[in-house]
Formats: sequence, C-alpha cells, structure tokens
Amino acid sequence: MSIALFITRKDPQPWLKQLREELPEVPIDLYDEVRDPEAIEMAVCWKPVPDSLSAFPNIRFIQSIGAGIEHVTKTQQLTNEMRLSRFIDDKLSQDIYEYVLAGIMSHLRHLGSAINQRSWTPQPYRTLQETTVTVLGLGEIGGHVAKSLTKLGTKVQGWSRTPKSLDGVRCFAGPEQLNEALTGTDILVNVLPLTDETHGILNADTLGQLNADGYLINVGRGHHLVEKDLLKLIKDRKMSGALLDVFQTEPLPEAHAFWHRPEITVTPHVAAISDRSRAVNLIVENWKRFQSGKPLLHEVAPGRGY
Ligand code: NAP
Ligand code: GLV
Repeated sequence: MSIALFITRKDPQPWLKQLREELPEVPIDLYDEVRDPEAIEMAVCWKPVPDSLSAFPNIRFIQSIGAGIEHVTKTQQLTNEMRLSRFIDDKLSQDIYEYVLAGIMSHLRHLGSAINQRSWTPQPYRTLQETTVTVLGLGEIGGHVAKSLTKLGTKVQGWSRTPKSLDGVRCFAGPEQLNEALTGTDILVNVLPLTDETHGILNADTLGQLNADGYLINVGRGHHLVEKDLLKLIKDRKMSGALLDVFQTEPLPEAHAFWHRPEITVTPHVAAISDRSRAVNLIVENWKRFQSGKPLLHEVAPGRGY
C-alpha cells in the first residue's frame, strides 16, 4: 500500500518531503526509485513520462497535482479500475482570474506596446463597459472568471458543454451554440479542458467569428489552438493579438514565431501554479478516502476526459 510520485517539469523533491511528513506511515517514493512496483496503489502525477505507469500493475488511484488531467489521460494506458482526481481550489481559480484581468486591461489600455514603444503616441482605447468578453469553459475556473468579470461591468458571455445559468453571464452550450457565443466577442478567454472534442477548437473558423479587432487569451492548453491560424489572422489584421500562457510544445522553442510577433504576448504557463501545501492536503485527504472506500474529492469522470 504505497504511493509513487510521477512528477516531471517541476522539482519532485519538495513534494516528496512534504508528503512523507504528512503520511509518515506510508511508503512514498519517486517512481524511478520504487523497489517494489507491485506495492504502488496511488500515483501522484504531473506530466508523467508517457506510459510510465504501466510498470506498476496495482495502481488504482491517480491524483493530478494540477487542474488539468489530460497529461495523464492522453499519455497513460488507463483501465476501468483506475480512479482519477485533479487538484482544484478557490486560489487556483482566483489566480487565473487575476491573470485574465491583467491580460484584458493590458490589451484594452495598450500597456504592452507602451512598454516597448517608448514614444509619445496617444491611442484610442475601449473601456471594460464597452467590451464583450466570452469565456470558453464555465467550470470551476471559467465559471469563477466569468462571474468575477460581471462585477466590473463588462459584458460577459460563456460557453460550456451542458447548459448553465450564471448571474449576469449570457450562457451558451454545445457545438450548435458556439458560433452564437463567439459572434460579437472582443476578447475570447479559453479555459476549456483538453479533450478529443476541444482539441483544435481555436482555429480560423472559430477565431474568425470574433469582432474584427478580436483578442485571444488562452489559459487552457496549447493544443486547443491551431497556431498557424492565429498567426495568419493576426497577419491579415483580422485579429489584434493574443496573450498565450500554454503551448503545444513547452517550453516554447526559441525559434517559434510567437516570440517574434509584437501582437502576441507569451507567458511560461504561469497563469495559476498549484499551491503545494494546498495540493498536498488534497492528496492526503484523498488517500484516506481511497483507503476507506469513500468518494474522492474532485474525481474525474473517466469517460468524459475532464
Ligand atoms: P472544469 O471544472 O472541469 O470545467 C471545464 C468546463 O469546460 C466546463 O464548463 C465544461 O462544460 C466545459 N467543457 C468541457 N468540454 C467541453 C466541450 N466539448 N464543449 C463545451 N464546453 C466544454 O475545469 P477547470 O477546473 O475549470 O479547468 C479548466 C482547464 O484550465 C484545465 O483542464 C486546464 O487545462 C486549464 N488550466 C490552466 C492553468 C494555467 O496555468 N494555464 C491552470 C489551471 C488549469 P460542463 O460544465 O457542461 O461540463
Ligand atoms: C495547470 O496548467 C493546471 O492544470 O493546473
């Protein structure tokens, strides 16, 4: 009855130390230092090496230390016996909201070009009240972003898979209402999970529905975006630019075109970083729930992919 950590792209050592302190009675190791693979029941994951879980035949519970789960579902062979959970909390949602708000304000008030330009060139601007923001994904994070934006007087729209009702938000649902949600949008905020249905959803057709100076903020995943379509729309002046936090290849390669377009702002996947102590609390709670057969917190419906 042991736990293994499959954590890459972050230093796993502080996670290992904190988990060992919180669960002193449980053997916990990094996956490549485990001596008895058959004893591992729980995998704590962040971007695990593809197929690395398959060497551990008794894993029954996979806990993501981030809100996304596609880094597991798209890289590992999952069985029906495996349960999945993800880390999400109020702080993570608020961190994303603050990032999105910074992006919206920077865009509306041309702060990016002011920092680079260093010349006295007044530009017309639009206020929040004159702006329509559409949020793709109205779950834990997108729902919080949309509701928070309404308090600023912005016109807010949102799109989800199943119908939603959120105060002050014009809600749309399902593929048949996507175009309606996009039409009239000044700023599109993507907070969808990456699934087979949402892969490539930000493309020439969908982005082409935005208002002529449409702006994209992508905090979902890199594979939501068809990168060449965004570059072409910006080059053809059919979109004004984008703030991108997530990419198909991370870190974004030095030669990538996104680094060279002044209309595109790149951040290194930092819109929200899981707070380790909060995530460890969830892992400990879920480990206990798993052991005693209770429902897990933030369990992911395996067939749905998010
Ligand atoms: P969530 O609570 O599962 O919400 C997902 C939302 O997307 C739901 O509203 C869902 O609709 C909607 N959705 C899913 N598939 C859809 C489809 N095919 N068509 C329309 N809507 C669809 O997820 P969350 O906690 O908000 O997180 C969302 C994503 O944010 C994560 O998966 C992760 O990729 C990303 N993220 C990024 C960062 C960062 O630092 N950049 C940090 C944290 C998370 P229903 O409500 O109808 O189910
Ligand atoms: C970050 O991208 C997360 O999924 O929490």
